[in-house]
Amino acid sequence: MPEHTELARQLAREAGKIIRDSLPLKKEISHKAAVDLVTDVDLKAEKIIVEGIARAFPDHAIVAEENHFDRSDHEWCWYVDPLDGTINYVHGIPHCSVSIALLHRGAPAASAVYDPFRDEMYHARAGAGAFLNDSPVAVSTTAALEDALLVTGFPYDRRENLGLYLPYFEHFLVNARDVRRFGSAALDLCYLACGRFDGFWEWKLQPWDTAAGWLIVTEAGGSVSDFNGDAYDPWSPRVLASNGLIKQEFIDHMGRIAAGS
Ligand code: IPD
Ligand code: CA
Ligand code: CA
Repeated sequence: MPEHTELARQLAREAGKIIRDSLPLKKEISHKAAVDLVTDVDLKAEKIIVEGIARAFPDHAIVAEENHFDRSDHEWCWYVDPLDGTINYVHGIPHCSVSIALLHRGAPAASAVYDPFRDEMYHARAGAGAFLNDSPVAVSTTAALEDALLVTGFPYDRRENLGLYLPYFEHFLVNARDVRRFGSAALDLCYLACGRFDGFWEWKLQPWDTAAGWLIVTEAGGSVSDFNGDAYDPWSPRVLASNGLIKQEFIDHMGRIAAGS
């Protein structure tokens, strides 16, 4: 329903303003884990979004990264990442986003991702297309992995499990055109949706990182799945997204890396 997308966009913009205005200010930083940070700005942004959703749809469930992260089986469930790209933010790098999605019975219904520093608002509604600042977007037409620009990220347990993640990075550095690591998974998916990247993979993202981008990519004509092509479940530890044209080749490479060949 259009009112869901409208609310997601409005709250993403409100939270984004706080994020933008606070970038030059000193932040209160705490560690959730060795390299997993949260700032007072993440918390302020989350409060605005959660309160806004609860006011508009008091009977919906909300799963938000900082304070409301328990899984919910509610028919209508919102997934909120108030600040995706906290490490960039803490270092003063203006590359991060606000990510808000609504799922209905597990399927994405409406979403918005906002980059407050470029004033880029991505949004999508199931069956109605994907948009960047109200203009329709579409995935790229790159047809071969060797011509593809890929993007990825590394989970917060990378110090313990580097051996699991690095073979993928190494493999695509030599088998694709290049690989980027920008630090906001929600924006990585939106860049894929508007044809800037051709493919994306990452381990151990959470539903608040991917749920909004999932809909934006699929509405832009792309594909989102598990590494082996199975239907995507945002609670699963693997996500593979592409323009669709390189999907099978991408999956084949994933299988070869997993098999160690
Ligand atoms: C992180 C970003 C990053 C990804 C990490 C995420 P956060 O989210 O999306 O790109 O590589 O795995 O946890 O912690 O900045 O909200
Ligand atoms: Ca995140
Ligand atoms: Ca976050």
